[in-house]
Amino acid sequence: MKKLLIVANWKMNPERLTQAKLLFNSVKQGIKKIRNTRPNRNQRFSNRVEVVICPPFVYLSALKANGAQDCFWENKGAYTGEISPLMLKDIGVKYVLIGHSERRARGETFEMINKKIKAVLKVGLKPILCIDKLSQIPKDIQGNYILAYEPVFAIGTGKPCSVERSKKMRKNADNNFVLYGGSVNSQNAKDYIEKAGFQGLLIGGASLNSKEFLRIIKNVAI
Ligand code: 13P
Repeated sequence: MKKLLIVANWKMNPERLTQAKLLFNSVKQGIKKIRNTRPNRNQRFSNRVEVVICPPFVYLSALKANGAQDCFWENKGAYTGEISPLMLKDIGVKYVLIGHSERRARGETFEMINKKIKAVLKVGLKPILCIDKLSQIPKDIQGNYILAYEPVFAIGTGKPCSVERSKKMRKNADNNFVLYGGSVNSQNAKDYIEKAGFQGLLIGGASLNSKEFLRIIKNVAI
């Protein structure tokens, strides 16, 4: 039985807390239901799936969610508008996305990302470093981090990376826990796990539709 990580990146969605609560609760209930239903009478699920949900910061406390989309590299101080790793830890967050390409595109640099990973590890949270090429991995990180391969051309485009290409990237990554992200849906999810050899998925658009997100979870668990 493999351990898989399925991560929902809600990005800057939904617009209201009431909608966020509805989405979150329907995903939670759906997961419970999946866990209580065996694929068939005599069978067990073949993979154990841990689900991480990363809503916008402002919804984290209300939802008691376990994932964040970013954080700053200092724990406190005069850094207007920033959120620290310690603050995230204090409200129950376990995983933090770092270096998402949508942040890099708006000016987040390699140095900033490097500092963020180290700060997250230092407080005992798990960073998920998002990259679209291996050269984006800092060399001097001490500690375990999760890698997420998200080719930019596949993000939010409906044009997922081919299984062959993603498999090559997976093989070349010197990390034993690598997620794939980019136009994942319930049709292609299992291929990235079974054929390309990833340990999980980082899901944007499809994670905003609870039924589709739950189908993905169920498909990779069986
Ligand atoms: P999509 O699943 O919408 O392509 O987004 C992927 C992503 O950026 C997750 O971090």
